[in-house]
Amino acid sequence: MMRVTVSVIKADIGSVGGHTLPSREVLNLVRERVTEATGRLLIDSHVCHTGDDICLIMTHTHGCPYPAVHEIAWEAFRAGTEIAKQQGLYGAGQDLLKDAFSGNVRGLGPASAEIEFEERPNEALMVMAADKTEPGAYNLPLYLAFADPMFSPGLLLSEALHDGFRFRIMDVDYTEGDRTITLDAPERLYDIAALLRDTHRYVIESIWSRRFPTEQAAAVSTSRLRNIAGKYVGKDDPVAVVRVQKIFPATEEFGPPFALGQFVAGDTRGSHNLPLMPVPINTPASTFFCCPMVSALGFSIHDGTLAAVTDLFADPFWQHVRDRVAGKAIEMRRQGFFGPAMLAMSELEYGGIVARLNRLEAEFSVRDGQQAVPRPAEHTRG
Ligand code: 13P
Ligand code: MG
Ligand code: MG
Repeated sequence: MMRVTVSVIKADIGSVGGHTLPSREVLNLVRERVTEATGRLLIDSHVCHTGDDICLIMTHTHGCPYPAVHEIAWEAFRAGTEIAKQQGLYGAGQDLLKDAFSGNVRGLGPASAEIEFEERPNEALMVMAADKTEPGAYNLPLYLAFADPMFSPGLLLSEALHDGFRFRIMDVDYTEGDRTITLDAPERLYDIAALLRDTHRYVIESIWSRRFPTEQAAAVSTSRLRNIAGKYVGKDDPVAVVRVQKIFPATEEFGPPFALGQFVAGDTRGSHNLPLMPVPINTPASTFFCCPMVSALGFSIHDGTLAAVTDLFADPFWQHVRDRVAGKAIEMRRQGFFGPAMLAMSELEYGGIVARLNRLEAEFSVRDGQQAVPRPAEHTRG
């Protein structure tokens, strides 16, 4: 048996006409750079995009995180950024937030999700990439697929799934290190749910089999760009790797959870809530307010080779799902910036609206005595 690592690393290094999609030239160059390393450091690779994010899917035998593999991604993104700058693409190099590479892309801007395993004779795996949203966007679908028999009948029907799954959840607001909690489903289901509902702060980092405790089922990227940059520089746009079938939920048990199109943070200026729409791979971001989107690829892996690939949200069923999700999005946008349509203040704290509110503070006064004819305070336009 072979020990294989799947490293998924993605970044936005510039896009055409706004935050839409990478140019063909940038995508080709990044693909070229990653392909050069295939056969040398990597066994195989697949390069694609979801909205304006380029996603590198790489297999190798070096474990994770392996600096030289991360460096391939970093250098490919840097080379792509040069082309993006030459073409005047929007946000060229957007997610490369640091100048120097230090052995791991984590903390530098790109998102990464990696998983290492003894390859099964029929290793089936999904890679998900989301644009215009945050890592917590996977909380609900993964919770439903790994812990709720209403969505995941395998929990009832399969002996291998019967013991449930172990969730490692990260507090992504904590920036001094990796602050995590490990909870077992089903015993701690309500505790898991209580954390995961706070998608801005608590994010599933990994999921493990309980029957086979060394078998990792899922890995999710957890980086929050605002915690790296200290200001709004784009949404976190998370990736995830999920092993499926046999001792894990089946590929199709992930369909209904993703078909919910739950409201997630993200979209325009990363400052609103809209439903997460499952889309085919290589779909541009939507001009309808940059509605959050997620794509999923299915792979069969053999000897570390990505033997075959299938686009999991491309079959005809998903058009109906997308129509319904679009309806939810259109309805939410009707209320503009009011209520849950725009994110809570705590999530906008790095944005310009905070400066605006601070300026308004000076204009407040506490009334004493009789109500007088209202007169605005001295106003400086902001
Ligand atoms: P990205 O994070 O995908 O670049 O989107 C940024 C944005 O502000 C879109 O409105
Ligand atoms: Mg962008
Ligand atoms: Mg993006």
